[in-house]
Amino acid sequence: MSLNGKQVIVSAGPTYEDIDPARFIGNRSSGKMGFAIAAEAARRGAAVVLVAGPVHLPTPEGVTRIDVRSAAQMHEAVTSALPASIYIGAAAVADFTPQAFSSAKLKKKPGTETLTLELVRTRDILADVAAHPLRPKRVVGFAAETNDIEHYARGKLQAKRVDMICANRVGVTGSGFEADDNALHVFWTQGDATLGPAPKAEVAAVLLDLIDKELD
Ligand code: PMT
Repeated sequence: MSLNGKQVIVSAGPTYEDIDPARFIGNRSSGKMGFAIAAEAARRGAAVVLVAGPVHLPTPEGVTRIDVRSAAQMHEAVTSALPASIYIGAAAVADFTPQAFSSAKLKKKPGTETLTLELVRTRDILADVAAHPLRPKRVVGFAAETNDIEHYARGKLQAKRVDMICANRVGVTGSGFEADDNALHVFWTQGDATLGPAPKAEVAAVLLDLIDKELD
């Protein structure tokens, strides 16, 4: 399937939510899955914008890369890159961020064994892209799940009003976070399909074929 003339935005990697100059909270993600999708979309002729959280990966050939750190920065970069034909949200965006950033490093208080952090929800990039006036024709999300995969993935498909959700099992070796391979269970309103296990580059290629076949 050619993507000539199409604009594709892909998000990849984690976001880091800074607590103080020395500490952050974030999700596990190497960026490999999102980078593989961006590389494959560019190989097929798309103009690709890759919005990457803090990862250590080279930029795929022909891809425009925007590096960000936090969920708020990723939200701004993705929505500023619209319009596009396809948005694929493979990033592991932090769901919560510290309510306040401390410009001074938080100190351990003598005699205190606990630290309480006030966290607030981040904005949902995927849901906001799906509800955006410049909504891409195809909005595809991921779901990292440890159990009840179909239940949670179909819930996200509906709640975030996206066209497709690619669920991967995390917490097992050989798929999901950081691994070179992945296995996806992909859900859309009319059906579902399993992809892999296979190297992430192969999974990316089959996923782009599936988006073309089932959603066009
Ligand atoms: O990067 P790798 O090491 O290769 O690993 C790949 C991966 C496991 C990170 C990837 O395949 C994956 O599953 N990405 C989504 C992980 C995730 O955060 O899932 P979620 O179920 O929490 O989020 C559901 C969807 O909402 C995702 O498309 C996510 O990008 C999006 N989201 C979530 C929160 C938020 N504030 N904004 C969002 O856009």
